[in-house]
Amino acid sequence: MFSFFSKPDTRKVLVSGIKPTGRPHVGNYFGAMKQNIAFSNSGDYRSFVFIADYHALTTVKNKEELSKQTVEMVAGYIACGLDINKAILFKQSDVPEHTELCWIFNNIVTVPYLMRAHAYKDHEAKGKEVNAGLFDYPVLMAADILMYGADIVPVGADQKQHVEYARDIAGFYNRAFIKDNREYFKMPKELIVERVATIPGIDGKKMSKSYGNHIELFCPEEELKKTVMSIVTDSSSPEEKKNPDENNIYNIHKHFLSTEEDLLLRAKFENGGYSYKQAKEDLLETIFKWRKGKIDIYMRLVKNPNKIYKILNKGGRIAKTEAQKRMKEVRKQVGLDL
Ligand code: ADP
Ligand code: TRP
Repeated sequence: MFSFFSKPDTRKVLVSGIKPTGRPHVGNYFGAMKQNIAFSNSGDYRSFVFIADYHALTTVKNKEELSKQTVEMVAGYIACGLDINKAILFKQSDVPEHTELCWIFNNIVTVPYLMRAHAYKDHEAKGKEVNAGLFDYPVLMAADILMYGADIVPVGADQKQHVEYARDIAGFYNRAFIKDNREYFKMPKELIVERVATIPGIDGKKMSKSYGNHIELFCPEEELKKTVMSIVTDSSSPEEKKNPDENNIYNIHKHFLSTEEDLLLRAKFENGGYSYKQAKEDLLETIFKWRKGKIDIYMRLVKNPNKIYKILNKGGRIAKTEAQKRMKEVRKQVGLDL
């Protein structure tokens, strides 16, 4: 909290959300969570990390599922090392100001503009029903990002367009309501790490909960084994030399490895005599090693979510104070405040 005696916080701002639509998986971790954790823990950013439960409502229609998955996402973040003293960790719906800002933005974006969003077009192309929340998804996400004046938004490649929308919407707003050409809403930038932009799933397509091709980080051992052993491979014999870059097992495994370990693994594929069965067992071993210690933290938190509620409560209060300050200004700028 800023007081007369404390210095204003001049650090750059990081904002990142994750939907509680399932349990955290390898794609979420390497594509977004790992970067969020590293940036937050560095202390170089004012870091707002939240569980996007309003966004999840566009698809989840079961209250037990939604609250359980919210707890699991928070537990996942903490187990993977997020320092809760360095990040403001909260639940989006604890700060309803996000929806208020979204509503204000709704009046400066057009329907044809929203119809160009990839997520909307994908749904349409598949003949799926699109609810109004899903159609408006990018606008709520712009509100999440612009609310706190984000400089960077660490995400996977699939979210690039959403951050572009947030920049557009900042521009629409500044032009519509800020008279002296001042940049009131700052332009956020997506942070996409090229190497991990799209982690493949067990079938080689982008790993995603919605494709059911994901490897959960903290599932029971037997389930993890079953998933890893069902990674899709070609029919090459164990003796054959294999191109690691075209191999699903390698393309998942490499993310867990140091540069030296990666080179050793590449060589195994390239030299031949490395069976897919062995490659899968090695990957399994790596994941078990990676999650050792982490899974205990995860299980403890999930079994006793009181600690999670407390953390979210505290983060929610800090985020809300910020959001209320923002909305006070916005309400004035658009003429809602008499
Ligand atoms: P899912 O596609 O499984 O529903 P989310 O949409 O909830 O995953 O993604 C949460 C975060 O994880 C986003 O920042 C997203 O870009 C990132 N992410 C998800 N899957 C992948 C992946 N396969 N590769 C890279 N990043 C990913
Ligand atoms: N749309 C993001 C996803 O599917 C989740 C999200 C919601 C988000 N609001 C955000 C990500 C703001 C970054 C910043 O993963």
